[in-house]
Amino acid sequence: MERTFIAIKPDGVQRGLVGEIIRRLETKGFTLVALKLLHPSRELAEQHYAVHKERPFFSGLVDFITSGPVVAMVWQGEGVVAASRLTIGATNPLVSPPGTIRGDLGINIGRNLIHGSDAVETAQSEIALWFKEEELVSWSPTV
Ligand code: CMP
Repeated sequence: MERTFIAIKPDGVQRGLVGEIIRRLETKGFTLVALKLLHPSRELAEQHYAVHKERPFFSGLVDFITSGPVVAMVWQGEGVVAASRLTIGATNPLVSPPGTIRGDLGINIGRNLIHGSDAVETAQSEIALWFKEEELVSWSPTV
């Protein structure tokens, strides 16, 4: 079954939106298979955002993501990578449609609350970067 990596960033944690964001993913029907709260190291953040390392916002992005606790999660479901990105919304919350997490809860591209893997291959590498294999729970809902 397809899996994706989703992180609630320090702004989401500090604004008390952890429950709200998880509720939206749960009620959509995705299955939570791993979850932890951690304060990411600079090394972890730089690896996670390595694809952006030449961008002008890279160091600010790494500063921000390492500024406080992050909720790291793995969600599972058919087509979960693309479908969860629809639930999350556009990168810039200001233009993300109402009904999406970013569209309903944010206005600032640098404080967009949540990260979701952009492709199945990216999801696999991000899950491996943030989680050990034994931290993933294999289960499927029976109801
Ligand atoms: P995310 O989905 O985590 O992937 C890369 C992040 O870079 C993105 O969310 C934004 O938070 C951030 N980002 C993208 N563009 C900008 C920008 N122009 N200024 C600041 N941060 C940005």
